[in-house]
Amino acid sequence: MGEKPCPIALSMSQDHSKLDELLEKALKTREGILSAPFWAFREGLLRHIGIEETILLPSLINPSDEVKSLAQQLRLEHGALTNLLVPEPTREIVKALQIILAPHNVREESAGGFYSFVDALPETGVKDLLRRISEAPYPPLRPYSKRPQALEAAKRAMQRAGYVRLSQFFGPRLT
Ligand SMILES: [Fe+2]
Ligand SMILES: [Fe+2]
Repeated sequence: MGEKPCPIALSMSQDHSKLDELLEKALKTREGILSAPFWAFREGLLRHIGIEETILLPSLINPSDEVKSLAQQLRLEHGALTNLLVPEPTREIVKALQIILAPHNVREESAGGFYSFVDALPETGVKDLLRRISEAPYPPLRPYSKRPQALEAAKRAMQRAGYVRLSQFFGPRLT
């Protein structure tokens, strides 16, 4: 991370680790998933993505084409992740979330990743962002959807983010 402090990267990466742990915990059962850690994950990930979409992504001023395309890919992946939180969770859904989150988090945390551009803003701007991050509320959650369309929507969002083969993992209907 170099000598310059990277408070945004630090704060958001700690959140990634917390969320990863909750997903791991959700799988600590022989069958199905543990509902309490998954619910906490769902709430935490929606807050986290909300921070990125409404506070951090809009903070980038005059982004280069490279940063714009990184932001676009992150948005598509956020779409896949949030759509995967709508249907009743299964082990397959948890595993798909892990598969999408691993490279997504690298794209955000790494040197030259998304957070590094936000940490490069003037110090007063970074301070303001940190305050807004700490004040960001947890979004109200809806119950899981039992409608088959919810899973179909998740598959389409995964395909838009480039996860075509992974989306086929959920059944033959979209293959
Ligand atoms: Fe993200
Ligand atoms: Fe993130």
